[in-house]
Amino acid sequence: MTLNIGIVGAGNISARYMQGLQKYPHLKVSYIADIDHARAASLASEFSVPGSGGTDALLANESIDVVINLTPPNLHASTVIRALDAGKSVYVEKPLATTREDALLMLKAERENPGILGSAPDTFLGSAGQTARHAIDSGYIGAPIGASAFVRSSRAETWHPNPGFLFEPGGGPVMDMGPYYIAALVNCLGPIHRVSADARIGSPTRKVTAPGRVVDEIPVSVNTHTSAVFSFTSGAIGTVLMSFDVWDTTLPRIEIYGTEGTLSLNDPNTFDGDVRLKRHEHSDWRVLAPVTQLFGLVGTPEQHRRGLGVDDLAGALAGGPHRANSGFAFHVLDTMLAIDEAAAAGQSIVLQSRTDRPAPLFNS
Ligand SMILES: NC(=O)c1ccc[n+]([C@@H]2O[C@H](COP(=O)([O-])OP(=O)(O)OC[C@H]3O[C@@H](n4cnc5c(N)ncnc54)[C@H](O)[C@@H]3O)[C@@H](O)[C@H]2O)c1
Repeated sequence: MTLNIGIVGAGNISARYMQGLQKYPHLKVSYIADIDHARAASLASEFSVPGSGGTDALLANESIDVVINLTPPNLHASTVIRALDAGKSVYVEKPLATTREDALLMLKAERENPGILGSAPDTFLGSAGQTARHAIDSGYIGAPIGASAFVRSSRAETWHPNPGFLFEPGGGPVMDMGPYYIAALVNCLGPIHRVSADARIGSPTRKVTAPGRVVDEIPVSVNTHTSAVFSFTSGAIGTVLMSFDVWDTTLPRIEIYGTEGTLSLNDPNTFDGDVRLKRHEHSDWRVLAPVTQLFGLVGTPEQHRRGLGVDDLAGALAGGPHRANSGFAFHVLDTMLAIDEAAAAGQSIVLQSRTDRPAPLFNS
């Protein structure tokens, strides 16, 4: 089934969607909207998209089936709800929203309208996430007992000309990078039941050294160093450090520990990469063969292109399972919000949201 797609938001990440979507001939972008019409027109011209302009025109266009929302996070809720109310299905970038209240209104709009809502991150649908899930489901590490996840600084001050948004509420390591790590953990271990945490601002200002910078120094108003414990419904316990203050470390990205061995995963902000297994009786780590096709060449910009989650939504519209669905994204958001709440309150937070592990992409 060919789907007609409209994109709202022609900013930084939009070209990565345009490039990634070229892998999926049944997903045809026919309109690009932005509050800045010239920016929409420029992206449309670069990728030979026939239409461009404003969001109203996009939503009024009856030939468009799916809207991909690439607006800034604080606009996700209003833009998604308008698109759902206009009868479209929607795929929205991460985070789903910036508050639980907004996210719940999005889920309500999905229930009340014919379209469905999918959300980034979709990287857990890549070969690494699926291979790790397959290893766990096949019992390669025995019964999962615990996991660790470590988000380190991307050193945005050294390469982003205007990184202030990453150090304000809505940014920070948890909201910016947490979605990839939490989605990977929930895909492998199931939902999280309780969150405890402590968090702080590393330093009150950050020096910007990026070439072409528009500011030399930025104030920090979001926690940049967070340490959390996730208690999974399954009984597994996750140790999670998310920090923009850790510049150098030898810590892994994600490990999962079971009664019979350990799994080690690559950066969950990429689709592919080695998943390594060491069972207790092994003398060394073994790289597992990927259980699904690679998304792209490991170590190339291909890993940062986007489109797999939109293809997942297309599969759901055709009657298949919806993996990167709104309930899953809401659980990820609920977990992220609970980290700051637990730190501020000095007590653990029991999550109200639940989600099932998404259906795997491999044949079990
Ligand atoms: N840039 C990245 O590397 C990256 C990576 C992963 C996820 N994301 C997510 O993608 C989304 C977009 O990020 P970005 O970096 O492209 O942001 P951006 O600020 O570069 O682009 C946002 C675009 O939305 C447009 N816009 C703003 N308000 C609008 C409105 N009311 N109607 C229509 N258009 C409007 C802006 O003009 C701009 O072109 C965010 O949710 C972000 O979290 C970005």
